[in-house]
Amino acid sequence: MTVVSELHQDHVNLIKLLDILDKKIIKLKDGGQPNFGLMADVIGYIATYAEGYHHPKEDKMFTFFKGRNGKLDGVMQECENAHANLKGYAHALLESIDGILHDAVMPMNEFIEKLEEFVRNEKNHLDFEEAKVFPVLSQVASDADWSAVEAGLPVQEDPLFGEKQAEEYKALYVELMRDINS
Ligand SMILES: [Fe+2]
Ligand SMILES: [Fe+2]
Repeated sequence: MTVVSELHQDHVNLIKLLDILDKKIIKLKDGGQPNFGLMADVIGYIATYAEGYHHPKEDKMFTFFKGRNGKLDGVMQECENAHANLKGYAHALLESIDGILHDAVMPMNEFIEKLEEFVRNEKNHLDFEEAKVFPVLSQVASDADWSAVEAGLPVQEDPLFGEKQAEEYKALYVELMRDINS
């Protein structure tokens, strides 16, 4: 798999989780109760995957192509800024949930708003990369570039990282589906 197709597959997997969260938001607006522990697990998973794996890859790739093309530079810069912002949103939301789990009081509509904002920001970023970054990259990059990018990507020190993430993803997906259908 090429770098971009791997990143694209990550996006597809993340969108599946975000779509279920969207369905959950509709249920919450309808008076349903959140399973806060599960919410924290899903948001924590998304944040850990993005910050520990997905964004570092993208950032390395962006650094490699910097200075090649003005349009590409502009959209890559937007992505780098978004990575920092998304990290902030995810951790703020996790802190809120942690507070609720420790008996802090937060009105449900406020929680729903925060969750909605998180999901929207994540989705907007994924859509932006798919629509505005990857197509320009594929115009600018040659096969030799991709080989060089791949050689320079961060090496995952834990050899079981991918496997562990895949296991966790599957377990979360099943649990979320159970929760949404209950
Ligand atoms: Fe990104
Ligand atoms: Fe991405």
